[in-house]
Amino acid sequence: MVKRIAVFASGYGSNLQAIIDYNKNNGLNGEIALVFSNNKNAYALSRANKNNIRSVILDPSDYGTREEFDKSIIELLEGERIDLVVLAGYMFLVSPEFVRKFKNRILNIHPALLPSFKGTHGIKDAYEYGVKVTGATVHFVDEGLDSGPIIVQKAVDISQDESMEDLEEKIHRVEHEIYPLAVKYFCEDRLKIEGRKVKILNKNNIK
Ligand code: GAR
Repeated sequence: MVKRIAVFASGYGSNLQAIIDYNKNNGLNGEIALVFSNNKNAYALSRANKNNIRSVILDPSDYGTREEFDKSIIELLEGERIDLVVLAGYMFLVSPEFVRKFKNRILNIHPALLPSFKGTHGIKDAYEYGVKVTGATVHFVDEGLDSGPIIVQKAVDISQDESMEDLEEKIHRVEHEIYPLAVKYFCEDRLKIEGRKVKILNKNNIK
């Protein structure tokens, strides 16, 4: 069955775009039914509109607590019969209740090789630390910070004369490569979680 996907984005939405494009060109076995944002100025919303995808904005400051805010989001997702939540630059922590409600059905992309450089500044933190290799990670979301089981990672080298801007560009390029693939694996029911490990079924037969 084709999975119904909600993409959550707070900003530019280049990962959203990569997933939209992949679905158009290659197919995900999924339909992007909804783009959700906590930020009315997110460029991701224009991308949704251009692609005729329903977009919804809820402003957290209209709610007393994160739990109340997430309760409204849960209602929205249930109304849309969403199977998969894809966090794509969603710069707002989801509540434990939300995670429990969508257990093993929320993906996130992080711009570093987890478990290194968790948090909101993955690229900058890695760059300033002086690591020679960093990358991007797609993982399931659990109740911790960037701590759920890892689905796909891809590394990039940091050369000694590289600027932060060059590194950012390189990381975004690999994000746009691996995130649509991880979404596709999910939509094809090919992800099997065994403790902390995620097996990708039939990985060698099909892309
Ligand atoms: C991406 O680099 C993503 O990895 C990062 O925000 C960027 C969003 O870009 N997310 C995090 O840092 C989450 N901790 P986009 O809006 O162009 O997709």
